[in-house]
Amino acid sequence: MIPVILAGGNGSRLWPKSRVAYPKQFLALTTDESMLQNTLSRLPKEGMQAPIIICNEAHRFLVAEQLRQVATHHNGIILEPVGRNTAPAITLAALNALANDPEATLLVLAADHVIQDESAFATAIKDAEILAAQDKLVTFGIVPQQPHTGYGYIQSGTSIQHQQNTIGFTVSSFKEKPDMRTAQDYVGSGQYFWNSGMFMFKAKTYIAALEQFAPEILQYCKAAVAEQSLDLDFIRIPETIFAQCPDDSIDYAIMEHTDAAVMVPLDAGWSDVGSWTSLWDLAEKDAHGNAVSGDVMLHNAKNNYVNSEGRLVTLIGCEDLVVVETKDAVMVAKQNAVQDIKHIVNQLKATE
Ligand code: GDD
Ligand code: MG
Repeated sequence: MIPVILAGGNGSRLWPKSRVAYPKQFLALTTDESMLQNTLSRLPKEGMQAPIIICNEAHRFLVAEQLRQVATHHNGIILEPVGRNTAPAITLAALNALANDPEATLLVLAADHVIQDESAFATAIKDAEILAAQDKLVTFGIVPQQPHTGYGYIQSGTSIQHQQNTIGFTVSSFKEKPDMRTAQDYVGSGQYFWNSGMFMFKAKTYIAALEQFAPEILQYCKAAVAEQSLDLDFIRIPETIFAQCPDDSIDYAIMEHTDAAVMVPLDAGWSDVGSWTSLWDLAEKDAHGNAVSGDVMLHNAKNNYVNSEGRLVTLIGCEDLVVVETKDAVMVAKQNAVQDIKHIVNQLKATE
């Protein structure tokens, strides 16, 4: 099996640490290693070939250096000249994998997720393998912890048995990012799982689904791969062709339409670290609910997340704040307003 690591996101919700030139998958946010490095090191050893990494061209040296640091060999670092979302990114990886092995199975992972229980993850991978071998498009559904509006949801159907165990479910529907009331109904029903954005399938099963549901994406990606060039460690994708490829996620382009979708449940302390509050959730806290890192002093402070890169940061009489200090920017937000960071990031982009 070949892990395919999607590392092309921009992680703007973790500004000011996450920047265009250095997005969140390359940051060490929860451990001493970056999220990309954590993704590689939590892969089960057994049955895994070297990964394919797919990222933006601008981040090629970051990726190569981070792989070198954890002594990871790879099956190619594919460079996208522009982002076209996950369906085309996975297609480029699938076509490259197929060129070497027509029977290749892909485990598609994001480079920016946290998974705390690695053995539960390994078990889910084994179950998924059984289903991928039967030409299914397997998605991993996370047992939801709370109603969350930042995730897509998968409605489970009937259970799938293997040797008297339930290893998965058919998929009744996919629902991308609902509002809070709908999310509450979903979680209350017990039928819905969070869409993890992680998948497993044979490369040829995925390509067959593209032929059926997204032929244009396949056409442009095939043309791009036919013209790709090898540059040291890197596989360069030509911009003139790839820029014309439709921009779409695998969820919208394929998973919502196909009958071959099945879901393997995963209960493993998963998070996509989509905001500063998810980091606060994951962090160790003091008796007053504060999670701090770096040079921080608190007095009479409750439920704050404070992350200081260099300078001393002090909070006095503060509650429910997120404070992030970096060399050139300081961000202070109410915990329940951190999603609004996008407005600041957009303003900054507009003034660039
Ligand atoms: N290489 C590459 N190229 N990677 C990409 C691209 C691209 O053009 N676009 C996105 N990715 C990577 C991101 O780095 C991220 O790891 C992953 O694919 C998902 O993309 P996001 O942009 O972060 O999507 P999202 O978080 O809004 O929503 C998706 O993921 C959620 C779980 O994290 C959806 O699938 C949701 O339904 C899901 O719950
Ligand atoms: Mg995401």
